[in-house]
Amino acid sequence: MENYSSTYLIFLLVIISISQIQSQTLDEIKAQIVNEWKSIALELVPLDQGNQVQPTYERRLWNFISDSEFSMKIEVFNDRSGSNRLQTFEGSGIITYQGESNVIQGAFLCQFHLNKTFILTLHTDDLVLQFNQIQNGGITWTKDKPQDITLLPVPAFNKLAGQYLIAYDLIYIRNNYLYMGDVDALGNMASIDEPPRGLCAPLIPSNDDITPLTLDELKEEIVKGVWTSLAKEVRPGLNSEGQVTTSFQTRKFTFPDDSSFTLIVSSYPGPGQTESLMDIEIIGDLIWEEDASAVVPGAQFAQFVVNEFYLTPKTDQMVQNFNQNLPQDLDPFQLNQKANLTKKDFPAFGLSKDTQIKENDLLYQRENRLYLGARPVDGRRPFPTERRTYSLSDDLIDPERSASFAYIIMLNILIFSIWI
Ligand SMILES: *[C@@H]1O[C@H](CO)[C@@H](O)[C@H](O)[C@H]1NC(C)=O
Ligand SMILES: *[C@@H]1O[C@H](CO)[C@@H](O)[C@H](O)[C@H]1NC(C)=O
Repeated sequence: MENYSSTYLIFLLVIISISQIQSQTLDEIKAQIVNEWKSIALELVPLDQGNQVQPTYERRLWNFISDSEFSMKIEVFNDRSGSNRLQTFEGSGIITYQGESNVIQGAFLCQFHLNKTFILTLHTDDLVLQFNQIQNGGITWTKDKPQDITLLPVPAFNKLAGQYLIAYDLIYIRNNYLYMGDVDALGNMASIDEPPRGLCAPLIPSNDDITPLTLDELKEEIVKGVWTSLAKEVRPGLNSEGQVTTSFQTRKFTFPDDSSFTLIVSSYPGPGQTESLMDIEIIGDLIWEEDASAVVPGAQFAQFVVNEFYLTPKTDQMVQNFNQNLPQDLDPFQLNQKANLTKKDFPAFGLSKDTQIKENDLLYQRENRLYLGARPVDGRRPFPTERRTYSLSDDLIDPERSASFAYIIMLNILIFSIWI
């Protein structure tokens, strides 16, 4: 008995220390990354076309054969049906870790050196034409024909003959979710000088399929959690000229019951900043619409209706900005004072006393994660239903119900066993 007890005690201490780890060390990432990973749903990816940001869609598959060797397949689609492909990238090579991100603790910048194979297939006549027009020898592009470009010149990617493609991205793992990064809301590629500043929707292990929740089960699950952003999210916003800009926000959702929600959105000047510029608190109704299994089995479309809207400016500059052109029936804003803008005209946020803000969104829950729909890439609201997206946003986590929930139960059993 005595011996068993001390073994248990050591085991117990190990478990306690494991369950308290929040962010990963590089060694832990290397141990966990060796797996095959896939997108949960078709991913919405912005494509900056100068004066407009267009949606494209991606499905990703990454296989880490070891902590330094990868192969990947990325399919790019031109609509949300997931059947009209534009391009397929298939590559393999070497990953090297460059150092911890200075904005996301526990995330590491990685270099992906595609020095084994890099194959590109173009799936539309338009793309074939464009690529052939600027191709200076080496390749004649043909629709749907995989082209090995490992060492060939591809002017469309500024890739020279004899050069391997080198790409940069973040790697972050939390629970059994693998994250790469977003640089901005315009879909720009990361580089060593411009590393990602936020996480994108995660990948899950390829064999990690769970039983989809029914609508009733989903309702039951969401009310139990306090759902918060893992890091500052890179989200599309609009500047005063109506152009898409990158904003950095965190979200915290609770659901007092299955037909209402509260949301606190904090906006930050940049990805690494800890002091918010302003906090917005929204209280409203959740109206369930229809099954969203077309996005991912178990997801449901729902409309969020804003009933109450509060704004707290957190810097003097924000107070000044909001107090300029203040609508007549509003009292001036004050630093750190929560102002009630419910049923008020406040054009800066698109609020007017006669109309209620509504968004056609979706909800998907798995393990300790909750997903809403991805924001439309043009930075405008997903309303009406024609504007809702068919992809998932960054996930929100309820840390209380992470794997540590199982540990707590186990702890009880173990403590119990020590005394018998
Ligand atoms: C790819 O690069 C790695 C490290 O830079 C090197 O060890 C490996 O031999 C290269 N493979 C090929 C096929 O060139
Ligand atoms: C905010 O204003 C709305 C509309 O006037 C009101 O119904 C609500 O109770 C107010 N909230 C608080 C906390 O006073």
